[in-house]
Amino acid sequence: MLLILSLIALLLFYINFRWNRRRMYELAEKIPGTNGLPIVGHMFSFIGLDLENNLNDGMKLIKKNLPISKIWAGSSLFVIVNSAEHSQTLLNSSDCLKIPFMFSRPFLARYGLVIANGDIWQKHRKILSYSFKLNVLNSLQPLFNEKSKKCIDKLQSKVDCGYFNISKFIAALTIETTMKGNFNYDQDFYGSKIIDDIDSAKPLMMKRLTQPWMNWEFIFQRSQLYKDMWGKITELHEKIDEIIEANEMRNNNNEGEPETTYVIDQLLNKKYNLSHEEIRDEIYIFILAGYETSSVSLSAILLLLAIHTDVQQKLINEVDEFFDGNDVSVEDLHKYKYTEMVIKEALRIFPTIPIVPRKVTKEFQLNEHRIPKDAILIEFIYALHRNKDYWGEDALKFIPERFEPENMKDIHTHAYLPFAAGKRMCIGHKYAMSFAKTFLVHFFKTYEIKSTHKFEELTPKMTPTLEIAQKYIVSLTRRKNKSE
Ligand code: HEM
Repeated sequence: MLLILSLIALLLFYINFRWNRRRMYELAEKIPGTNGLPIVGHMFSFIGLDLENNLNDGMKLIKKNLPISKIWAGSSLFVIVNSAEHSQTLLNSSDCLKIPFMFSRPFLARYGLVIANGDIWQKHRKILSYSFKLNVLNSLQPLFNEKSKKCIDKLQSKVDCGYFNISKFIAALTIETTMKGNFNYDQDFYGSKIIDDIDSAKPLMMKRLTQPWMNWEFIFQRSQLYKDMWGKITELHEKIDEIIEANEMRNNNNEGEPETTYVIDQLLNKKYNLSHEEIRDEIYIFILAGYETSSVSLSAILLLLAIHTDVQQKLINEVDEFFDGNDVSVEDLHKYKYTEMVIKEALRIFPTIPIVPRKVTKEFQLNEHRIPKDAILIEFIYALHRNKDYWGEDALKFIPERFEPENMKDIHTHAYLPFAAGKRMCIGHKYAMSFAKTFLVHFFKTYEIKSTHKFEELTPKMTPTLEIAQKYIVSLTRRKNKSE
């Protein structure tokens, strides 16, 4: 009897649940894709998919239903977008500006621009924007040169020493630049445990993202995963407290407008009245957004150049034409057009942020589709960048020349989104481009690199940034014709 009553109660609960969400089901019905099984939806399609180790597995989810398709993960509706036309509408709509909770939760932070929503996001975006104006970016150019040259010197120990993973050096380069350029904190990070800790925290973040039961704080906070994650970010948090303290002491008597343009000075400016937790989380998330993305993208660029030695030679020719071997000036940056095309093509083939998730806060029109409130839109940048409709039959090949202005004039503006677009577009995109260019010029004035990897065999994995499963294994030789 009790069993029958429980079943009836469950049935009534389910009917009520479906009734309350009837508009969502009605609209979802019209979005391409099957409905999956009752209650579980497409959960079974995820079995055997391995996004964490092979992002190409994610393509299987959308193959049949380009350019937009739905997936039901239990009662959550995901709408995956793989077209420039839909991306344009999506990223410019104010009805889906929010980062869904399940995607922000793995970072173990409440604040931080990348994961913030609503008023907090608006306020923090305004505060941080100050430090990303062109004149501020230009003032960082000496730092980009200094840190690039330091990395070149450190790499000397690897010359003619066979194959090694270059990503550790690049990580130290980018974290030092992020720390000094944004938080006025200058310390040596070569061989730092913090880099290893962040590296090992990433798969744990993916674990939380991909294990739906870890969405419940009650379960998560009692799990080994929780302890492991905090274990990996504790030292970074201690470092952040150290950074805040050092800068607070420096700014102690500084009321009103900040004296400098560092991000940290904006965050500490009393007029914004940010709590310690807000400042700490903002710095922590900013380090992940700025350091981690620059690090994996530069490592991927170097690996691609090590494999495509013909492209590397063209880049070297450009460097030799314009670089005198001292510093790359702001005025000279625009001269390195081929280098810029290499960076852009690398970010097309391996976009550092392969997906951008958004929560639909109000029912809205996504071109020919009506998207229900509470759906989760997944802007699948990785798939978009490989979509042959935009990039042609050679979409899967590494060809920097496709970014020649005349080759790009017919390509849809939203077919290429390494830094996303719209109101939440990457705040550091110009910083990232200037820094990458400066480093590559210094690097290829000094070294040549090779790799035994084959391009077709490289496996992109989501960590949650896009990394190469085979690692960034290269060998280094010093260029013979370097003009000192
Ligand atoms: C190649 C390097 C980089 C790539 C590929 C990249 C990519 C992105 C993407 C795709 C987003 C949008 C995420 C979304 O819409 O939800 C984003 C946001 C962001 N990026 Fe970057 N980024 C890079 C470098 C940087 C750097 C160097 C910084 C800082 C110095 C930075 C700071 C941020 C911040 C703070 C946000 C959040 C913006 C917001 O939500 O308002 N990024 N980045």
